[in-house]
This record gives sequence, C-alpha cells and structure tokens, in this order.
Amino acid sequence: MKINSIRFKTSIFYSGILLAILGLFSVYLYATIHHILYQEVRQGLALKAGQIDAFIDAYADIATKDNLMNDYLSASDENAAPKWIINHLWEQDSKSLGLNNDYFRILSPRGRVRLRSDNMTNNIESIFAPQFPVHADQITFNHFQMNNSLYYGISYPFRFSNRNSFVLQLATPVDSVQQILSQSVLFMALGIVSILLITVFMGSFLTRRILKPVSEVTLTANNISQKNLHLRIPHEKLDHEMEELVNSFNRMIDRLEGSFAHINDFSSHVAHELKTPLAIIKTEMELALSKDNPPQEDKRVMKIALGEIDRLVRTIKDLLLLAKLEYKLNIFKMDEVEIIDFLRDIHQHSQILAEEKNINIELKLPDYPVFLDGDTVHLRRIFFNLLHNAIKFTPTNGSIEILAQVQDKQVVIRIKDTGIGIADTDKPHIFEKFFRVQRPDHEDVGGSGLGLCMAKTVARSHGGDITFESQLNKGTTFIVTLPITHLQRVFTQI
Ligand SMILES: Nc1ncnc2c1ncn2[C@@H]1O[C@H](COP(=O)(O)OP(=O)(O)OP(=O)(O)O)[C@@H](O)[C@H]1O
Ligand SMILES: [Mg+2]
Repeated sequence: MKINSIRFKTSIFYSGILLAILGLFSVYLYATIHHILYQEVRQGLALKAGQIDAFIDAYADIATKDNLMNDYLSASDENAAPKWIINHLWEQDSKSLGLNNDYFRILSPRGRVRLRSDNMTNNIESIFAPQFPVHADQITFNHFQMNNSLYYGISYPFRFSNRNSFVLQLATPVDSVQQILSQSVLFMALGIVSILLITVFMGSFLTRRILKPVSEVTLTANNISQKNLHLRIPHEKLDHEMEELVNSFNRMIDRLEGSFAHINDFSSHVAHELKTPLAIIKTEMELALSKDNPPQEDKRVMKIALGEIDRLVRTIKDLLLLAKLEYKLNIFKMDEVEIIDFLRDIHQHSQILAEEKNINIELKLPDYPVFLDGDTVHLRRIFFNLLHNAIKFTPTNGSIEILAQVQDKQVVIRIKDTGIGIADTDKPHIFEKFFRVQRPDHEDVGGSGLGLCMAKTVARSHGGDITFESQLNKGTTFIVTLPITHLQRVFTQI
C-alpha cells in the first residue's frame, strides 16, 4: 500500500479516530473500575474500623469494674497494663473481623502508640509509620508501599468511653485490587490493539473493494489510444458515483474521438484545397512547356497560375485567421466605425462585380450615422463574403438588397438575394469549415467553403452574430447583428 494512496490515508484516518475514541473510553472505564474497587476497599476499612471501635467500647463495659480497659488505654506505659486480658479478648474478636493480613494500631492524639496488632513488628512499624500520617480530626485514607506490597489504610479518629479521643490506623493489602486494575489495563490495551488491527484490515479490504472500479478504469484508460478511440469503459454493475465518473470519462473520449475525426476531416480538406490549385498550376505549366507557345498563350497560362496562387494564398490566410480566432488570440485592431458609410462603400465595390451578372444591389440604410467598435479590415471580410456569395448564387438579372436597421442597441444588417437558396438538409452545415453545397448546376462556382465560417467567427468576436433564412430556389437572407456604441456623434463647440 502506497503512503499517498486513498486506501492508506482512509485506513490511517479511521484508525486514528477509532484509537482516540477507544483511548478515551478506556480511560473512562479504568477510572470507573478504579473508583468502584477502591470505594469497596474504603467501605470495608471504615466498617472494620467502626467494628474495632465498637469492640473496644465493649471491652470497656466488660472491664468496668476493674477499670481495666480504661487503665490500659490511659496508662503512660503500654506494658504496664494487664495486656493479656485485652489480647485474649482481641484474639477472639479479630478472627471474626478477618484482620489476618491487616495491620493496625491505636494512637493517642499526640501520636503515642497505645495498641498494635500482633503482626506489626517493630520493623514493620518503622516502614508503616512514616508513610501513614496520623489525622486526629477526620477520617483519611492513604496508599503506601510495604514489603513489595501496596497497602491502603484508614486513619480513624474515635472517642473511648466518650472521654478520651484516639486514632485507629488500619491498613489492608490492595495487591488483589491492583492486580484487577492491571489486568483490566492489559485487557483494554489488547482490546484496542485487536480492534485497531481488525479495523485497519477491514478498512483496507473495503477501500480496495470500493476502489476496484478505479483500477479497472485506469487499466481500460491506459489501453485506449488514438488507434482504438472507439473503446469505452463498461459502466454496468458500477456504483452510482463510479458510474458518474466512468460516464464522464466516456463522454470525454466521445469528445476526443469527435475532435480526432474533425482533425482528420479538416486535414484532408486542407490537403484537397491546397492540392487542387497546385495541380492546375502544374498541368498548365507542363502544357506550356511541352510546346512552343505564342506569347499570348504563355500570358494566359501565367494568368491562370497567378489566379490559382491567389486562391492558395487566400485559403492559407483564411485558415491562419480561423486558427488564430479559435485560440482567441487578440488579432483585432478595434476602432470607432461608422457602419452606414461603411456599408455604402461596400455596396459601391460590390456593385461592379454584380454588374457582370446584371444584378442590381439595392441599398436601404438609415439616414443618420451609426457607430460601433470594430476592426474595419475584418468587418469588410464579413460583408464582402456575404455579398460575393449572394452574387455567386443569384442567377443573372436577379436582385440583391442590403437593408440596415437599428434595433435596441444593435444594428441589424440583412443581405437578401433572389438566388438558388439553401436546402433544409444543408442548412445545419452552412457555417462549417469547407462546407459547400454540391449542385450540378453550380459546379463552376469557385470558393473554398471558409467564407461563412470566418464571417460568423468575426461577427461573434465583435459581440454580434450571423444567422440566415432561406428557401430553396427562391432566395436567401443573411442577417448580421452587431452591437452599436451610439447613433449620432455629438460635437460640442467650446
Ligand atoms: N447566398 C447564398 N445562397 C445560396 N447558397 C449559399 C449562399 N451563401 C452561401 N451559400 C452556400 O454555403 C456554402 C458556404 O459558403 P462560404 O461563403 O462559406 O464558402 P464559399 O463561398 O463556397 O467559399 P469562400 O467564401 O471560402 O470563397 C457555399 O458554397 C454555398 O453552397
Ligand atoms: Mg463565400
């Protein structure tokens, strides 16, 4: 498993969260067990201390006559009292208290030892006493270490015969309690480790299952190349999210396939467009060279060659411009253009061409200037191409109309002809690169099929558009819309 893989990161992330939760839970559990166990020890110690207190009171009752107990506890020297009687009584009672492993002693408030359990030798007391401070005013509990064992003790103040106060110190070993606590720590640690191991294993297994389709997608994607772009990643049997991913991926390959097909088409069109004029030039030149031509024949060949070279240069220029426009390179030199005068100028230039076919171009323009931001050179290309098309595809004696109107903040220019029209099946392709309608009756009409594509791209780059309406054999109207800046220039005299 790689460190930067989703599998690794997910396993670590969830194990970390689980570790934190289990850790907190274990601390809480340990604290609770500790509290419960020691609560019991404390209660046991307090019970025993209370019983010892009661026993001592009972001895006092038994020995009232001789003031035995009183003398014993009040004596200045602990050995001076008739200890055997007390010892005898104590031996019997201590058995019932179950004090076998406990140590205890009774002290005066000033710290003088009055009574010790039999098992508390001097040696033991020397370890016991410094670790177990005497508290004459309140019940306290204390932990201490003795002979490698842990003890828990109670310091228990009490009054004897309602007069003299004493302190009972009773300690009991808590090794068993500690053992339970260490066992629970071990148990919890083992539990945490095993839960973590199971989680890491399960997490890794689950993520591998979830990510299995990703590996499959990668494998298929790696196999897809330019040669088998038709391949798609199967999306059946996939989870919803993966299906979405795979579908997006497949759609991307669809687009890639489309682009490749387009590039293929485009390259063959370009090759064809460049090859045709070159072939014509070659044939004409070869013909001219093969025989002794009169000078006027040579001139004719050169004219043809020059015409074809012009066509070649124009196609290459158009292609370059289209490529630049597609990559949105800033190629326009924008300036203020007065479109009405501009259209008048275009009309004048096109009229000469139209006259050859006895076509009249009518001009209907607003009688006020309309201004827009544009690149005159490229705007000229739009209108010349549209007018040349109209002339090309309108039979002799037909008519063309240029109509400009201002609508909202746009100027709408219609170029209407009474030409051959465009069939409905061809309409969707009219603006495609290299598209030309194939009509046997118009085979001799020249053109590379780039004009409309370029015109639309330029119009769009100016914030406008070109659309058209056409009826087969009746005529076509191309509609150019361009945003205007203002209508009438206002000159203020200073
Ligand atoms: N006014 C029109 N009437 C009928 N068909 C038209 C008209 N204008 C364009 N077309 C059709 O649309 C095709 C594409 O026009 P476009 O201007 O893009 O190319 P072209 O005129 O053939 O060549 P180019 O303009 O590059 O010299 C034309 O070949 C023609 O079939
Ligand atoms: Mg054209």
